[in-house]
Amino acid sequence: MVFQAPAAYVRLTPVCGIAGYAGPKNAAEVVYDQLKRLEYRGYDSAGVAFQTPTGLGLLKRAGRLNALRSLMDEEKPEASTAIAHSRWATHGAPTDRNAHPHYDQSGRIALLHNGIIENYLELKEELIRRGHTFQSETDTEVAAHVLGEEYRDGRILEQAMQAAIKRLRGAFAFVAISTEEPGRLVAARSASPLVAGLGEGENMVASDIPALLPYTRRVVILENDRIVSLTRDEFRVTDFNGHPKEYEETLIDWDVEAAEKGGYEHFMIKEIHEQPDVIHRCLAGRIGDDLRVKIEGAFSDSVWQEIDRVNIIACGTAFHAGLMGKRFFEDLLRLPTDCFYSSEFRYSDPLLSPRSLAIFISQSGETADSLAALRLCQRNRIRTLGIVNVVGSSIARECDRVIYTQAGPEISVASTKAYTAQTIVLMLLALHIARVREMPGVDLNRMAEELRLMGDRAQTVLELDDDISALAKSLIDTKLVFFLGRNADASVGLEGALKLKEIAYIATQECPAGEMKHGPLALIEPGVLAVFGSTDPRVREKVVSNIKEVQARGGTILAITTDDDSSLDGVAEHVLKIPATRSVHLNAILSAIPMQMLAYHMARHLGCEIDQPRNLAKSVTVE
Ligand code: F6R
Repeated sequence: MVFQAPAAYVRLTPVCGIAGYAGPKNAAEVVYDQLKRLEYRGYDSAGVAFQTPTGLGLLKRAGRLNALRSLMDEEKPEASTAIAHSRWATHGAPTDRNAHPHYDQSGRIALLHNGIIENYLELKEELIRRGHTFQSETDTEVAAHVLGEEYRDGRILEQAMQAAIKRLRGAFAFVAISTEEPGRLVAARSASPLVAGLGEGENMVASDIPALLPYTRRVVILENDRIVSLTRDEFRVTDFNGHPKEYEETLIDWDVEAAEKGGYEHFMIKEIHEQPDVIHRCLAGRIGDDLRVKIEGAFSDSVWQEIDRVNIIACGTAFHAGLMGKRFFEDLLRLPTDCFYSSEFRYSDPLLSPRSLAIFISQSGETADSLAALRLCQRNRIRTLGIVNVVGSSIARECDRVIYTQAGPEISVASTKAYTAQTIVLMLLALHIARVREMPGVDLNRMAEELRLMGDRAQTVLELDDDISALAKSLIDTKLVFFLGRNADASVGLEGALKLKEIAYIATQECPAGEMKHGPLALIEPGVLAVFGSTDPRVREKVVSNIKEVQARGGTILAITTDDDSSLDGVAEHVLKIPATRSVHLNAILSAIPMQMLAYHMARHLGCEIDQPRNLAKSVTVE
């Protein structure tokens, strides 16, 4: 089953999972179930707080959710109001104590938090001077104590939240309950995502929509700088000064099943197999019957004519897509293009010409480094364009213009379909600009025709799945894998290497094939595998020479080439063939798919936890 995101679909990708519920069901069980639905995102500890007739209850455990489950089975909490959190550690190790929620000093309030409080250390010192004691190393517990201090002089929790926020600096989505206001949840958001669900006689909040879907389809995607106060039959939104604010209710019409694995063993392989559809969706409405490429949301023609340089700024897989974009823009448009890691760019003193364009590529649209780099460009009054998957995400909202990749929700931590969609959008953009700038030598119609065939060609590549699985099985003892190629194949190799290391934990070495003899060749010995991308016929002979260099030192070769090429048959130990297109750039885009499958199957045969690789989270919303 392939998930078809409705046009109005908005998905937020916070690091931590948040759930909160007020209603007739056992709230402790509801919020646990909601956390389960957010489990795919990755976390290291979890906890639940609930109102009891005599006060608050709090259950927390480091590790997977089933550790919390065992505790809940022992304690059997019953409550009509509860909040729960799955944590991805930022301040303090993933321990029971550091897990959320946290009490304030008096124990009257329990608070959970997604984000980072930047001034928590100075606040903590101040609170300690006033006699506060802390159980954890977290910034969240400090926020709970600040909230507790402000819960005075007859203030209700909502007013205490307004006052506390004024003392806190940073990014947050908070949810709190108090012993003194049975049945009420108060939540607040600034920068970190939060959604609310409106039910019949029940209301709830969560960090992401899938948590709400079994309970309600009426969702409020909270704007920034909002406080929500709710009970089972009351729901109100204010700004941080307590002024009532209107909110928009969205009816989410997609099925919760659609976001689940759809018969595949893991989200990653499901998403790999979605790529033909993703490509079709990504192209939809963007290539006319006359083969004219037109992208909604992009700049006007005069802007495209004026631009003298492009800076592509992104992280990880999105950065690798950017490297492909550089090749498209320079090869097809002769437009100078640089690629920067967001984390480097944000602290650099970049040379930004007023006629340049900064392109931000991001699946989640929430990556903290990319967002900071975007703001740096805006301070320098540089035009910004986002290529983003998550509709309504921060990068999408803050860029001057945005082009959505339309890849649907990506749940696997290892990005696959987002990469393909990003590279397709970059190619569409290059063709759009080529038309506006009347680039000589670019056969726009031919490229558009080729693009239209990409979905079907991706489907053909997927037919290699069983062969790749068998090959991967035979290779699982490999301790070091090189990813090599020339031109665009070298860029794709970086992505193939990232996939393998992040999910199969196998060390990789990646570089342009011609660079091998300048150092990396020293690492080649029997047992080392070299994956060669060889989809560019212009340099194939050179690649064959590089293959021989590796073989001469005992290395084993897996070559990925096009189905019109037989030059590697009998040369490389293993050859995978993908459909040949009439564009070296599109060949390279397709060649990423067998690399994704190779990484997936090696990880699977090694028994790795594929959708939630160790040490990684889906969306990196902290620096
Ligand atoms: C790797 C992966 C990461 C992300 C990176 C940027 O498989 O998923 O490298 O590509 O964290 O994330 P976004 O695209 O959400 O900005």
